[in-house]
Amino acid sequence: MAKTKILIVFGTRPEAIKMAPVVKEFQKYPDEFETKVCVTAQHREMLDQVLGFFEIKPDYDLDIMKQDQDLSSLTSSLIESLTNVFEDFKPNYVYVHGDTTTTFSASLSAFYFGAKVCHVEAGLRTYDKKAPFPEEVNRQLTGRLTDIHFAPTERAKENLLKENIKSENILVTGNTVIDALRICLSKLESYSSDELEQVKSIVDPRKKLILVTGHRRENFGEGMIQICEALKEIAIRKDVQIIYPVHLNPNVQKPVYELLSNLDNVDLIEPLSYESFVWLMNESYLIITDSGGIQEEAPFLGKPVLLMREVSERPEALGFSTVLVGSNRDKILANTNLLISDVQKYNELSSARNLYGKGTASRQIVEYQKKVKI
Ligand code: UD1
Ligand code: UDP
Repeated sequence: MAKTKILIVFGTRPEAIKMAPVVKEFQKYPDEFETKVCVTAQHREMLDQVLGFFEIKPDYDLDIMKQDQDLSSLTSSLIESLTNVFEDFKPNYVYVHGDTTTTFSASLSAFYFGAKVCHVEAGLRTYDKKAPFPEEVNRQLTGRLTDIHFAPTERAKENLLKENIKSENILVTGNTVIDALRICLSKLESYSSDELEQVKSIVDPRKKLILVTGHRRENFGEGMIQICEALKEIAIRKDVQIIYPVHLNPNVQKPVYELLSNLDNVDLIEPLSYESFVWLMNESYLIITDSGGIQEEAPFLGKPVLLMREVSERPEALGFSTVLVGSNRDKILANTNLLISDVQKYNELSSARNLYGKGTASRQIVEYQKKVKI
């Protein structure tokens, strides 16, 4: 019997983290599936860190990334290169994840080619085209092109139903980010690397660790300046240490290194490999971020998040572990101080919760695919 041909496409760090468990799960069934991995390498170093940890060797590597790439040329080169991959492998199903330019381009190329599109982490919405930008539109367009929608939560499924997607084409699985996190936490029990040892050595156990990340396009410019001003102010406190692995996007690197270098209580470091970052999240008191994935990991680890966005497509965490602070200096500062001084508030936001599943999403996805005919 012919095997079902599965092509899993991803390009950035978060897609790689969230698709790694899906790759591993498909690879368990070589008699049923011919599984290939295509990385667009929309990210390079930050993608390779994840491939290394999960020991994934891509079958296709499009090596697309350019310094300070713009969305239009990224999209057009992705579509052109992906089309060649589809012609070569002739997949029956193309798996994409989330909301990046790789996600949208791969689903559009797959649709043109005639493969079925399977969207992991489907149905998240803000219904605001500009936030997150361009991810909200990438995700909505991918939704239009998708044949099988793997929604992480019931709320995400409801969004899809409202858009007239048929219930039989949606499966609620939880988020694969929890699958990846559980794999990582168990590996960390007996894991060591030079990077991890170095990270351990910079953490000051006498201080409350505030972990910071940020990269959203809608925060570039004035937003980044406000965020840095807030962090500068927070760092005046003697009882905190800020560790900030700075995203490699030059629109982030430039303001952050200009405004926050050489400050007491602030460590600016390179983006960390996933395993070191998870270790650091676990050690942290509070996380200040605009990340999508970290909003999902933090409640599982029982860590409060100040979310530097105006809206969130992940409403499940709002009020439980996440507080929206935008890129407003005063709000970031006030909420950080509140979470340091108000123990009750801190405890409310830091009790661990399974808002995004139990870590079985990738298994459910592959089980579902086994039942679908070519
Ligand atoms: C991208 C995604 C965003 C996702 C984020 C995760 C789009 C439009 N954006 O944003 O949805 O949340 O990744 O981090 O799909 N760079 C490097 N090395 C790397 C990675 C990036 O040097 O490993 C630099 C390059 O100069 C690159 C720039 O960062 O041109 C921007 O990368 P890009 O993928 O376009 O945007 P991100 O801000 O990373
Ligand atoms: N992460 C990482 N190293 C870092 C910062 C984050 O491995 O230095 C991980 C984090 O655990 C999460 C993912 O990267 O799983 C989030 O990626 P990012 O914030 O870049 O993208 P988003 O989730 O916003 O799309």
